[in-house]
Amino acid sequence: MKLDDLMTKGLTRVNPKLAARSERYLRRIPAIRARLDREYDRLMAGIEGSLKPYRGTVPSFATIPPAGRPREEILAEMDDLSGREGTTWREGRVSGGVYQGDDDHVAFLNRVYALNSQVNPLHADLWPSATKYEAEIVAMTAAMLGADAARVHEPQREVCGTVTSGGTESILMAMKTYRDWARDTERIKRPQVIAPTTAHVAFDKAAHYFGIRLIRVPVGRDFRADVARMRAAITNDTIALVGSAPAFPHGTIDPIEALSETAREHGLGFHTDACLGGFILPWARRLGYPVPPFDFSLPGVTSMSADTHKYGYAAKGTSVVLYRGTELRSYQYFAATEWPGGLYFSPTMAGSRPGGLSAACWAAMVSMGEEGYLEASRRILEAAAAIKEGAARIPGVRVVGDGLFVVAITTHPIDPYRVMDAMTGRGWHLIGLQKPAGFHLCVTLRQTAPGVAERFVEDLGASVEETRATKPTGAGMAPVYGMAATVPFRGMVSDMLKRYMDLLYEV
Ligand SMILES: Cc1ncc(COP(=O)(O)O)c(C=O)c1O
Repeated sequence: MKLDDLMTKGLTRVNPKLAARSERYLRRIPAIRARLDREYDRLMAGIEGSLKPYRGTVPSFATIPPAGRPREEILAEMDDLSGREGTTWREGRVSGGVYQGDDDHVAFLNRVYALNSQVNPLHADLWPSATKYEAEIVAMTAAMLGADAARVHEPQREVCGTVTSGGTESILMAMKTYRDWARDTERIKRPQVIAPTTAHVAFDKAAHYFGIRLIRVPVGRDFRADVARMRAAITNDTIALVGSAPAFPHGTIDPIEALSETAREHGLGFHTDACLGGFILPWARRLGYPVPPFDFSLPGVTSMSADTHKYGYAAKGTSVVLYRGTELRSYQYFAATEWPGGLYFSPTMAGSRPGGLSAACWAAMVSMGEEGYLEASRRILEAAAAIKEGAARIPGVRVVGDGLFVVAITTHPIDPYRVMDAMTGRGWHLIGLQKPAGFHLCVTLRQTAPGVAERFVEDLGASVEETRATKPTGAGMAPVYGMAATVPFRGMVSDMLKRYMDLLYEV
């Protein structure tokens, strides 16, 4: 029997209406796939040029060159490419991406990296400086995120953590930790984690890698986690709840206090994902912005992620994952005692790690100091407020959510993706959002330079006008998002994304 027949037969027994609908869907598969293929080819024709702009213009290598190239030649070539790619982010036209980016800050981090480029924290005996930097990065981050208050609640469970390679790894590590903790202490074999729909996709990745079932719960009309629905989703297999401070799409902060209390009542773990907000919300609060509690000052928060390579202003490649107590952290660790290669242990996913990045992260934090973070946060929050106010005044534009530094936008009745394409045409790199359709600008120090916020608002107004006055051309991202929104078989959309990744690795 064919799979289609099996599916339809199975469904017929359950629900004839559903079966009829699924038959209709099944009949549509070839047409939908053909449409996706056409759309993909069209998209690729447009994208390949921008994804591989150096083809045929600079030397390219599919094999190791027989003789080494002169170093000066390599440096000159890289200098040229980096110069070509630097304009857009330097001018503040990129959402997120580069959070600091001032020439002197970057030059300083580069010097620190150069001093430490051979360092591997895996060999703690060889480079005790690397372990010093990492221990202090974790301690400083914990202190910033409520470790003192946590000590008052529970002196026996000090906030501790590890340095990771980025937000995703911090989240992966926390989820693996809860899985192993629940298996060990509660004998849970089919672990479930409950997260709002807006929590970062890294939680799906963790679920995918570690055999966890991720239950996504719809958010409320304000785009915040719905505490009652999250509570209702708890089962005997639930190991942890998740909330974001803030969530990537709209910059909204979930009701962390209520969520973490719910988790505590049920004896569950609670992870605050502060990858985006961890290094700006504490300073925003000190500056008088309304920031609800989200860190270890809440007794129910048992782990957090906070990215040093975002608003911590470190070079790309570091983040911190924190736990309430060393016992919980120990479930993250890996140790092997029987390997012929020796006694082995490593705290995070990677084995060897770039100690230069940890050194640069430490140097970023201690060179910024509290004053530097406060001043940077003040400038960012003021720029974001100006952008939000300016955008909201444009007829047809609606600012979605109440993000302090993420400005999420939708447009009505015109298609927001066409507006985003028009913004791309004006040199902006914004992030497309779905469910509901829109886009956002995550404001960083790059947008605090004079005139950038004003230019964003001006360009947004012009893009809205342009979209109103013109017909869709079929170019850009608008048709892709449009198609992704209507294709019922999500596997096909995911196949398309995988084909895109194949393209990344073509020389
Ligand atoms: C809220 C949140 N969590 C996690 C991540 C993942 O971080 P990374 O891209 O460093 O892996 C991001 C990235 O933007 C984020 O905004």
